[in-house]
Amino acid sequence: MLAERIDARVDPHKPHLARLIRIDPMVKDHRLFQLRFEDPKLNDEFTHKPGQFVMLSVLGVGEIPVSLCSSPSRKGIMELMVRKVGRVTSALYALRENDFVGIRGPYGNGFPVDDMKGKDLVIVAGGLGTAPLRGLLWYCLDNRAEFGKIALLYGSRSTKDMLFRSEMESLLNRDDIQCLLSVEKLDDEEKDTWRGYTGLVTDLFRHLGEIGEDAYAAVCGPPVMYKYVLEELLNKGFDKNRILMSLERRMKCGIGKCAHCAIGYHSSVGYRYVCIHGPIFTYWDATNLPEMI
Ligand SMILES: Cc1cc2nc3c(=O)[nH]c(=O)nc-3n(C[C@H](O)[C@H](O)[C@H](O)COP(=O)(O)OP(=O)(O)OC[C@H]3O[C@@H](n4cnc5c(N)ncnc54)[C@H](O)[C@@H]3O)c2cc1C
Ligand code: FES
Repeated sequence: MLAERIDARVDPHKPHLARLIRIDPMVKDHRLFQLRFEDPKLNDEFTHKPGQFVMLSVLGVGEIPVSLCSSPSRKGIMELMVRKVGRVTSALYALRENDFVGIRGPYGNGFPVDDMKGKDLVIVAGGLGTAPLRGLLWYCLDNRAEFGKIALLYGSRSTKDMLFRSEMESLLNRDDIQCLLSVEKLDDEEKDTWRGYTGLVTDLFRHLGEIGEDAYAAVCGPPVMYKYVLEELLNKGFDKNRILMSLERRMKCGIGKCAHCAIGYHSSVGYRYVCIHGPIFTYWDATNLPEMI
C-alpha cells in the first residue's frame, strides 16, 4: 500500500520509495541513515555529484532537503546525516531500520569536481558541515590520482561532538591527505591519546603547508565560522571564485518553482535559488549577492 502512495515511475519529481537499511547514532541528535531504493534498477542507476542534496519525505509528515554525504564513487547505498531539529527530522528519528521514506532528487549544482581535477584542494569543515563535504572528500580520495594535494581541516567543540570520528582519525594514517583535526575543548581522559590539535578550526591554517595558486577550497560549517575561515583562505591567496561554500536555506519544491529559497537579488543575474543555482556557491557569489551568508 505504501508503494502505491509513492509512485517511483510516473513523474521524476515524485518521491521514490527507499528503505532505511541502517541507522547509526553518531553524536547527540545526529544520526547517519543508510538507504537503498526499493526499485533495484533505480538503485543501480542512481548517481549524484558531491555536494548535491535530496528531498527526503516522511510519509504523512513532510519533506526536507538533506545533503548526500556519501560519495558517488561508492554506489548502491545512499548515506544521509540528519540532525534532529523539528517536526520532520523528529518523525524521521521515530522510524526504524527497514521502514520506508520517500526520496526525490538529486538536486542542486554540487561541487564542480571536473574543474577541480588536477588542482590542490583544501576542505574546511565545522560541526555538521562535514555532511556535504564528506561526499566530496571520499570522491577525491577514491579518485586520488586525479587531484593535487588534498588537505582536510575539521574542527568541532570536543571529541564527543566529532562526526565520523573514527573515519576522520583513520585519515591520519594516510600519506596522500593532510588531515588536521581540532577540538576546542579536550577531555582529560583524551589528553594522551588525542592525535589532533586543540583550538579553533582557523588555528589549523598555520599547519597547512604550501598550496598551489589555482587551488580550490570547500567550506561548510556553522555561520559563525565563515567570516574567520574566509579571512584565512584569502590570506593564503585563494581566488574568490575557487572558494566554494555549501549554503542551507528553507526549501519547498527543490526544483526552482516555488521561490522559497530565493536569495540575494543582483541586477545582472536576478534572484538566485539555492535549490538550483546552489547549494554550492563561490565566495565571489557571497560577496556580490546580498544576504547570502
Ligand atoms: C541544501 C540543504 C542541505 C541540507 N542538508 C542537511 C543535512 O545534510 N543534514 C541535516 O541535518 N540538515 C540538513 N539541512 C537542513 C534540514 O533541511 C533542516 O534541518 C530540516 O528541513 C528541518 O526540518 P524539521 O521539520 O525537522 O524542522 P522544522 O520543524 O521545520 O524547524 C525546526 C527548526 O529548524 C530550523 N530550520 C528548518 N529548516 C532549516 C534550514 N533549511 N536551515 C536552517 N534552519 C532550518 C527552523 O528555523 C526551526 O528553528 C539541509 C538544508 C538544505 C537547504
Ligand atoms: S525550493 Fe522552491 S525554488 Fe528553491
